[in-house]
Amino acid sequence: MSEMRPIIDPAGKAGINSPTAANETLDPEDWSDFRAQAHRMLDDMLGYIEKIRERPVWRPIPEQARAPFRSPAPRRGEDLAQVHAEFMREVLPYAQGNVHPGFMGWVQGGGTPVGMVAEMLAGGLNANLGGRDQMPVEVERQVTVWVREIFGFPQDASGLFVTGTSMANLIAVLIARDAALGFDTRHKGVAAGPKRLTAYASAAVHSCLPKAMDIAGIGSDALRLIPTDSRHRIDLAALAEAIQRDREAGLTPFLVVGTAGTVNTGAIDDLGGLADLCQREKLWFHIDGAFGALAKLAPDLAPRLGGIERADSLAFDFHKWGQAPYDAGFILVRDPEAHKQAFASPTAYLARAERGLAAGSPWPCDFGPDLSRGFRALKVWFTLKTLGTERLGAAISRSCALARYLESRIKATPELELMAPVELNIVCFRYRAEDSDRVNKEIVIRLQESGIVAPSTTRIGGRLAIRAAIVNHRTSRTEIDALVDGTLALGRAL
Ligand SMILES: Cc1ncc(COP(=O)(O)O)c(C=O)c1O
Repeated sequence: MSEMRPIIDPAGKAGINSPTAANETLDPEDWSDFRAQAHRMLDDMLGYIEKIRERPVWRPIPEQARAPFRSPAPRRGEDLAQVHAEFMREVLPYAQGNVHPGFMGWVQGGGTPVGMVAEMLAGGLNANLGGRDQMPVEVERQVTVWVREIFGFPQDASGLFVTGTSMANLIAVLIARDAALGFDTRHKGVAAGPKRLTAYASAAVHSCLPKAMDIAGIGSDALRLIPTDSRHRIDLAALAEAIQRDREAGLTPFLVVGTAGTVNTGAIDDLGGLADLCQREKLWFHIDGAFGALAKLAPDLAPRLGGIERADSLAFDFHKWGQAPYDAGFILVRDPEAHKQAFASPTAYLARAERGLAAGSPWPCDFGPDLSRGFRALKVWFTLKTLGTERLGAAISRSCALARYLESRIKATPELELMAPVELNIVCFRYRAEDSDRVNKEIVIRLQESGIVAPSTTRIGGRLAIRAAIVNHRTSRTEIDALVDGTLALGRAL
C-alpha cells in the first residue's frame, strides 16, 4: 500500500503531475498575453459580422494570396498575433461570403454572432459527444426534445446531430434498408439476400440521395426518379404506378423520399399524400427537409408542411434557415429501436456502466457512423434559447416575402423571365437573350465578381437559370433590387 501513489494530488507534486520548469504543455507561456490576444481575435470577428455590409460579398482570390498556402509544414511555432494577422490579411477577405446579405447562391445560412461565440465555448470544452455521461450529451438530447416538438414527432423519437442533410439522408437510407432486409444485413451485406430493393423520389430530389443509395450498396439506379407536376412536386399517380411496376417485376420497394423544399425551386411535395401512400404500401417514408423543414417555425408557412409529422425519418439542417454556423445537420427517426439497430456496434472498449463516466447508455455513437463527435448541439441550443423559435420563424417568413418581392419585380420587367413558380425562398429566372445560357452564366459570374450580390445558377427544363436562394436573415430589399438592377445592366451590356 505504501508504494501506491496518492489518488488525489491537488498540489501536483507527485510524478508526472509535477509542474516542470519549462512549459512542456501546449498551453500559453503567458496567459494574460494570450487572453489579450484572444480578446482581439473575438473583437475582430464581431467587427467582421457587424460591418459585413461594408465589404464585398465575395472577391476573386489573387494568385499572390494563394501562394503562401503552398508552404511546407511549420516546424517551429509562430506568434499567435502574427498568425492572426495573416488570417485577417489572407483568409478572411477571400471567404465565400455567406455571412453577407448579398449572398444568395446555393442554399446557405448566414450564421449569427450568438452561434459564433457558442462555437468558441464548444471549442473550449473540447467535448467529444460520441457518448459517456456528460452534460453536453444532455444538451444534444434537449435539442432533440425541441426538434420532436417542432415537427410533431412522438416523445421517444431518436435524433442525432450530423454534418449536414447529405449525411442525415444517408443515415435514413441505411435504417430503411436494414429495416426492410433485416438488421443482419449489416453483417451479411446487401448481396447476401435475394431481395432487390428499390426506392422512390421525385426527379427534383437532391443529388445526395442517389449518392446515399450508392454508398448503401443498393445502387443509385435503384432510386426511381418520378416525374413532377407543374409546381415541381412529385406526381403521386406516377409514383404509385412505378411502385406497382417494380413489385410486378419481383423487386422490393422499401423507401419513398419526399422533399420539403427542393434544392432547385423550393417545391414541397404533397407530404400528406406521400404519408398515405407509404402507409398503404408499407414503405419507409423519409423526408428531405434540408432547408424547408424549418419553415415549420413560420406560422404562415407551417400548414404547407402538413404530413411532416407522419414521416418515419426527417433530415434537415440548422445551418441553413436555422442560421447556426456550419455545420449542423440533424436526423430525426420515429422508431428509436430501428435507428439504434442500424448503427449500434457494441465492443469492449466502449462498454457501458451503470455508474461513472461510462453510464448514460444509449450513446449518440449508437445512432450514427461517427464515434468522435463535436459539440454541434451547443450552437443550436444557444441559437434557439437566445433567439427563440418565433424570431427564427419570422426571419424564415421574411425570406419568402423577399422571394415574392423578387418574383414581382421579375414579372414587371419584360426583359426578365421567371423560370419556375416561387414556392418558398428560391427564385429561378433569366435575362431574355438570344444566346441565353451563355449570357445568363456570364451575368452570374460578373455579379459574383462585382461583390454586390452572389446568386448561383441551375438548370430548369434544360435551360440555364439564375437562381437566388434567399436564406440569409440579413438580406433585404436593397440586395434584391441590386440583383435585379445588376442583372438588367449586365444583360443589356452583354
Ligand atoms: C433539398 C436538399 N437536400 C439536401 C441538401 C444537402 O444538404 P447538406 O449540404 O447540408 O449536406 C441540400 C443542400 O442544399 C438541399 O437543398
